[in-house]
Amino acid sequence: MKIKGKRVLVTGADGFIGSHLVEELVRSGAKVRAVSQYNSQNNWGWLEDIPCLKEVEVISGDVRDFQFCQLATKKIDLVFHLAALIAIPFSYVAPSMYIDTNISGTLNMCLAAVENSCEKFIQTSTSEVYGSALYVPIDEKHPLQAQSPYSASKIGSDSIALSCYNSYDLPLSIARPFNTYGPRQSARAIIPTIITQILSGESKILLGDLSPTRDFNYVKDICEGFMKIASSDKLNGEVVNIASNSEISMRETLNLIKEIIGKDVEFVLDPVRIRPKKSEVNRLFGDNSKIKSLTNFKSLFTLKEGLEQTIEWFSKKENLSKYKVKVYNV
Ligand SMILES: NC(=O)c1ccc[n+]([C@@H]2O[C@H](COP(=O)([O-])OP(=O)(O)OC[C@H]3O[C@@H](n4cnc5c(N)ncnc54)[C@H](O)[C@@H]3O)[C@@H](O)[C@H]2O)c1
Repeated sequence: MKIKGKRVLVTGADGFIGSHLVEELVRSGAKVRAVSQYNSQNNWGWLEDIPCLKEVEVISGDVRDFQFCQLATKKIDLVFHLAALIAIPFSYVAPSMYIDTNISGTLNMCLAAVENSCEKFIQTSTSEVYGSALYVPIDEKHPLQAQSPYSASKIGSDSIALSCYNSYDLPLSIARPFNTYGPRQSARAIIPTIITQILSGESKILLGDLSPTRDFNYVKDICEGFMKIASSDKLNGEVVNIASNSEISMRETLNLIKEIIGKDVEFVLDPVRIRPKKSEVNRLFGDNSKIKSLTNFKSLFTLKEGLEQTIEWFSKKENLSKYKVKVYNV
């Protein structure tokens, strides 16, 4: 499918990855309808910050409501479904919300896309579904392990989406991004947590366990992966990792950020940030050979380059002021 000229719906467009994807789609010549979760302030989240907002149709609603999903998918060729609850710590506190939003919300979106004959549906998965690596690099055949309610809800949402491919012929691919970072990410994630604390002048940085490894990807590379998956006609019914094929520990990541910012800070273990032992995902290192062989995907940013861009964005006062550094963000 060629994206230029297509009518494209993005759910979760008010969020971190969704807002970058909307920008990329507009740049590629798509006609974008962006879903922002309804709130009474008519606040469109990170969409408010994108320079091309005038070229986007924004609609407010909620993927838990089927009627809304029916309306949202009307006259749409391609759906990128990103709306989800994604914080792992909050999924310990409110697991049922994750089932409603991530599983029922995905079912609603898929059924609405079937009803409105959408040409393609991209379901957004996550590397968290794999749990701690049983082997590396993690390919798409790696077993799924529900180490948190979040992971369980995404395993469920991928599964319900695949069932719509099998049962109703919904033309669907599952994009499975590994850890993503970049401008506009929530401070619940490790990289913005470190950057916002250092840039706010804290000398003691509060963090959780720094031994796990992650496969970090700059948000522009992840958006490129989404676009390649949507453009390919070889990936119907397929799950596809978007990964950099590397791993780095949280401790090494902290050191790299300290080096780029040029500030030596002390790391302090904050017990509230430690996950239950069996729930902590100790190792994530994704195999990207499938996306590379079936599309011409290539990561364009090294971790250092991506971190430099991210730090530059957070260094702007108007951006940093949107984060509550003194509050632990779950
Ligand atoms: N950030 C990562 O590292 C990462 C990695 C892999 C996969 N993902 C997946 O990518 C997607 C986007 O993640 P993100 O990091 O941009 O998170 P985010 O929290 O910034 O964005 C998610 C958006 O979904 C919206 N949303 C939540 N509930 C909704 C509802 N009921 N109805 C409508 N909208 C609703 C929120 O308003 C939010 O803006 C998610 O599906 C997530 O599971 C993220």
